[in-house]
Amino acid sequence: MALNDFDLVLFGGSGDLAMRKLLPAMYARDYCKDLPETARIICVGRAEWSQEHFLQTVETSSKPHIKETPTDEHWERFLQRLVYVSVNATDVASYGALVEALRRDPAITRVYYLATPPSLFAQICDNLKATGLATPNSRVVLEKPLGRDLASAKRINAEVGKVFAEQQIYRIDHYLGKETVQNLLALRFGNILFEPLWRREWISDVQITIAEKIGVGNRLGYYDTSGALRDMLQNHLLQLLCIVAMEPPTSISPDAVRDSKLQVLRSLKRFTPTTLAQNIVRGQYRGGYVDGKAVPGYREEPDAPKHSKTETFVALKAEIDTWRWAGVPFYLRTGKRMADRLAEIVVRFKQIPHSIFHQPTSTFQPNSLVIRLQPDEGLSLNLMAKTPGDSMRLKQAELELDFREQFKAPRMEAYERLLLDVLRGQLTLFMRGDELEAAWEWVEPILNHWEQDDNSPLPYASGTWGPAASSALIGRDGLQWREEALPED
Ligand code: BG6
Repeated sequence: MALNDFDLVLFGGSGDLAMRKLLPAMYARDYCKDLPETARIICVGRAEWSQEHFLQTVETSSKPHIKETPTDEHWERFLQRLVYVSVNATDVASYGALVEALRRDPAITRVYYLATPPSLFAQICDNLKATGLATPNSRVVLEKPLGRDLASAKRINAEVGKVFAEQQIYRIDHYLGKETVQNLLALRFGNILFEPLWRREWISDVQITIAEKIGVGNRLGYYDTSGALRDMLQNHLLQLLCIVAMEPPTSISPDAVRDSKLQVLRSLKRFTPTTLAQNIVRGQYRGGYVDGKAVPGYREEPDAPKHSKTETFVALKAEIDTWRWAGVPFYLRTGKRMADRLAEIVVRFKQIPHSIFHQPTSTFQPNSLVIRLQPDEGLSLNLMAKTPGDSMRLKQAELELDFREQFKAPRMEAYERLLLDVLRGQLTLFMRGDELEAAWEWVEPILNHWEQDDNSPLPYASGTWGPAASSALIGRDGLQWREEALPED
């Protein structure tokens, strides 16, 4: 679908996210000729930079993150779309330059992308309203972190909601922009095979893992006040869980999909004092080796508080109280400085009820479906098959679908897809306000529990799969994390 002409206004336009992700994403779309001739990207920053200085910064800080190799002519064309405007986001008197820059045909699409700390959201929205820039057909994009608990999330929703209607608000969770996450919708609702089995009668458990090799990097200031639960679980992992577990939406329309996801979030079993203690593991990385390279522990990272209790790993067992899922454990796990970088969902089916072969059922690996989000994108369906030869021996075999092999078309980064959706006015892959609040409501007891807990997170060596307690969490149910269950090479 061709885009209408637009002005995309990036608050935080000289910041890290704009340079590393947003401008490269827009460049990629420009490169593919998706952007209308006169579309502009207006980068708003506090610094009083000249246009030349800004373009120089884009050259040094953003261009290296572009995946295509731009020709000079192409790059010049992209730079011509960029306009730098210096505004102090909290001072309404400084918005004059932005008002001036936006003096164009009011019918063109206008998007305000707030890539700023959330503490500025309310003020920016108020100022956009006061200066007449928050028109009824403009849109606003909110970057995470969308709050740090239920109260702050509610505050953000209420404050932004005073200026923009819900259908003008795009809350980003970049995991929803990943190809394989959307492919999961295709898998579940574009095929007849899985849906009849997608329930407690046939599925024994689900594991969702997002593991990273990187440490906290240069984001310690933010991360130390956040931790893995707020940074990854409350948003990315819960969104993946919703897509795995939701009831079939009536259509792919925004509210149909978001209603189904909301139902999952509201059906998550609340933690009790006992399950809080038993079903959640938090960890913090110590020094170790990642890819054979020595790396420091979290508390040794530059500027890290020496006694920080911030978790860099969390694993938990969740349950969904619905007819479809009652009794099926969903194990969620995320961590930094882990043994590998991967994001995957493992759906394990139940064991066969009876073996007709000269082989006990215990030797049958239950079927499983592995949905890989990264680093590669694909699916494996694990089945039992006969091994060649004259005896009837069954062994696990894999049916592989590699999306990159299957579909050669070039990939879009998550931000490319999501920015295009905002510009098209397509809300399906963005969180609604009530979803955001429901997710916070569920994690809040965990935050409160940790707040009152004098213990520190459990240590784990960098380059491992987290604290041993994480294996024990799933081991108590007679199960293993996928990598623990894989046969040795
Ligand atoms: C971000 C988190 O939302 O997601 C980061 O703030 C994390 O801490 C990142 O590294 C992971 O995203 P991806 O797409 O690299 O898996």
